[in-house]
Amino acid sequence: MTFTSTLVAGISAMNTTGLLWVLRRLLSLSLLQSAYALSLIFLILFTIAAIAGCVVLYTGQGKFHGSTTDTLDYAVSKADLTAENLRNVSDYLSAAKKISVDSAILPLDVQKSIDDIDRKINSSASTLSHQTADNKEKIQHGLDRMRLALIILAAVMLFLAFLGFLFSILGLQCLVYTLVILGWILVTGTFILCGVFHLLHNVAGDACVAMDQWVQNPTAHTALDDILPCVDNATAQETLSRSKNVTHQLVNVVNGVINNVFNRNFPPALAPLYFNQSGPLVPVLCNPFHSNLTNRDCAFGEVTLHNATEVWKKYICKVSGSGVCSTPGRLTPQFYTQMSAAVNVSYGLYRYGPFLVNLQDCTFVRDAFTDISHDYCPDLRHYSQWIYIGLVIVPAAVMLSLIFWVIYARERRHRVYTKQYDGRSEGQYKGR
Ligand SMILES: *[C@@H]1O[C@H](CO)[C@@H](O)[C@H](O)[C@H]1NC(C)=O
Ligand SMILES: *[C@@H]1O[C@H](CO)[C@@H](O)[C@H](O)[C@H]1NC(C)=O
Repeated sequence: MTFTSTLVAGISAMNTTGLLWVLRRLLSLSLLQSAYALSLIFLILFTIAAIAGCVVLYTGQGKFHGSTTDTLDYAVSKADLTAENLRNVSDYLSAAKKISVDSAILPLDVQKSIDDIDRKINSSASTLSHQTADNKEKIQHGLDRMRLALIILAAVMLFLAFLGFLFSILGLQCLVYTLVILGWILVTGTFILCGVFHLLHNVAGDACVAMDQWVQNPTAHTALDDILPCVDNATAQETLSRSKNVTHQLVNVVNGVINNVFNRNFPPALAPLYFNQSGPLVPVLCNPFHSNLTNRDCAFGEVTLHNATEVWKKYICKVSGSGVCSTPGRLTPQFYTQMSAAVNVSYGLYRYGPFLVNLQDCTFVRDAFTDISHDYCPDLRHYSQWIYIGLVIVPAAVMLSLIFWVIYARERRHRVYTKQYDGRSEGQYKGR
């Protein structure tokens, strides 16, 4: 139907009723046409909004999943690193038991205490890594499910918006109504999900806040202890004091042999003690701890654990077939190797001291949480916000689309009827 044909039909009638009829037709026509165009515009707009919402939801969930996985991996790597360091300490302690320099060994009670602490350390280390891995798995499982649910939701809503748009454009009213009912249920479901997610979003935010609080007040027991637990304080403390003691005792063993055997001159008759040692005296090791395990400064002439093996190289003599020095020197290569091993173990244990102190007051967990709340929490908050926004946009846009599917489909039918009606009335006029 066109304006001209209506106009021509009215003008051809050329009476008052005819003119009124023309005016009425023109008015209803423009209203109809603008309603039709408007409903189409809104339909397209809301469909685009629904698609955009789905994209936001999909992207947001992908990024959220990525950053939660990163965060969990970080916590697990911290726990693993700590467990590995604990095992290293335990290995050094075990190695200390096997150290012997010129047949001198650690006192037996020290050796026994090493067995004891080794058992505790290993159990702490496996508890730490298992607990963290278990929790990671549980959390990851939940996140994977959430992810799947969100992907399916985004896909279904996208499909629904597309189908509804298509049916409505094609004017398949019956299908549109079926889809509207289905869509309504989905929209309601999504709104509920959005509410649930809002709670989750707050929980994630709370976890980040809780981390900050915990960092300031680490004695409080929180749910975070499950993710990255502190090592049992008693074990940590015992490990620290035992490793200090072993370092102290090993240095004593080495220094004892240096002072009583290597740096003295024996007559050949005292065979095991005499090996033709001669020349400048071997410097003794600096013991980093007093016997009460407080820190000790090095005295003049002592070599540190750090460079002892280098310095002692100068005191090695060449050995003849009978195992005695044939050149000046106070250490046979064999003794040097034994002393190096002792230094290696003492120094190893000594270097793990700060780690053990951190373990005792749980600094490593505090550091990890500080890192998480600074480096990972902003991303976590950001992307969970994306999901939340997606979860608001999608059902809102689909809900409005639903309404316009119906309106547009009706307008379209209306238009088709009017066209048919006009076709008939035009025929009538022409027939006149
Ligand atoms: C002992 O060492 C000296 C060098 O200090 C060497 O001259 C001498 O031959 C050595 N004695 C034996 C029995 O090897
Ligand atoms: C020190 O000991 C550790 C462990 O026992 C070993 O892996 C390392 O090679 C040793 N280093 C030296 C210089 O002997």
